[in-house]
Amino acid sequence: MGTLDMPREQLGICAEGNLHAVYLMFNANDGVEAQMRPCLANIAQYIYELADQYADSAFNGFVAIGANYWDALYPDARPAELRPFPAMESGNRDAPAIEYDLFFHLRCDRMDILHLVANEVYGMLEGLAELEDEERGFRFMDARDLTGFVDGTENPKGRNRQQVALVDEQDPEFRGGSYIHVQKYVHNLRKWQRLPTQKQEDIIGRTKQDNIEYESEDKPLTAHIKRVNLKDENGQSLEILRQSLPFGTVRQQGLMFISTCKTPEHFEKMLHSMIVGDGAGNHDHLMHFTQAVTGSSFFAPSLDFIIQFSE
Ligand code: HEM
Repeated sequence: MGTLDMPREQLGICAEGNLHAVYLMFNANDGVEAQMRPCLANIAQYIYELADQYADSAFNGFVAIGANYWDALYPDARPAELRPFPAMESGNRDAPAIEYDLFFHLRCDRMDILHLVANEVYGMLEGLAELEDEERGFRFMDARDLTGFVDGTENPKGRNRQQVALVDEQDPEFRGGSYIHVQKYVHNLRKWQRLPTQKQEDIIGRTKQDNIEYESEDKPLTAHIKRVNLKDENGQSLEILRQSLPFGTVRQQGLMFISTCKTPEHFEKMLHSMIVGDGAGNHDHLMHFTQAVTGSSFFAPSLDFIIQFSE
């Protein structure tokens, strides 16, 4: 299969980082699928065209369909591995599932443009869906999480982003699409900031100021990057592409964690390794300082899949 007939992906899936984001979660009204399909086709096309119009501000975005809504919306075919969010709990660590029907991921280096587009999307969905949650993400310092650690360093780079994030021939009808997981993490920053820097570094597995990875033998089994750096039976790294950004206000703040991948399996295994652990008592100690308050599973189909339902 040549690259020419690869369906066009939605541009926000593999985009490089931005300064700002708006995240909109909707639940669809009952029985509106026939109007929803062309409406989503219009929104996806609109987002795609804005990426050209506002290329100077690096606008990008995508529309994703919830695992529990997919069959109502597109009953004829389902992405092979689309399944609900893998809720899990162990000790006092909790990764709950809070599913939504639709997720709009909008990003740009200008907040004013994002605000306009978010209003436009909201208007286009009037009468079809209810807005359930809205957050605004922002780049913090030199791309750091609010814990003060640089986030995204080991993300796939260049064309490897597409290879990691997009479905390929494994599921021909859904090529160019991506499995999306979103978790809203609320940090306990007071508790975190009481920890000496060295202890924080042990929990992440990298140094704070200079962002240098610990040597393998120095990395605690409870360090975040130790828990998520997993390999398959052939020794190949399990990879995801993270599109997370800090969000919030002084009252409630943390990380909108967003994973895009050609399979849901990698995220599921990493989350299990963080929350449940390795079976020998080692879980991710970062989880003592942050709490996931949502967990949602979506599929972001290719642009060409969505716009086949245009009117
Ligand atoms: C790496 C923060 C949740 C998967 C990192 C790094 C930081 C970080 C600071 C090191 C720099 C980097 O390579 O990006 C956080 C925070 C989280 C969170 C603050 C939530 C509050 C998650 C979750 C997953 C995950 C839920 C997957 C289920 C990864 C992966 C890496 C990473 C795969 C790269 C590991 C490597 O290859 O070195 N994270 N993370 N993270 N994180 Fe997270």
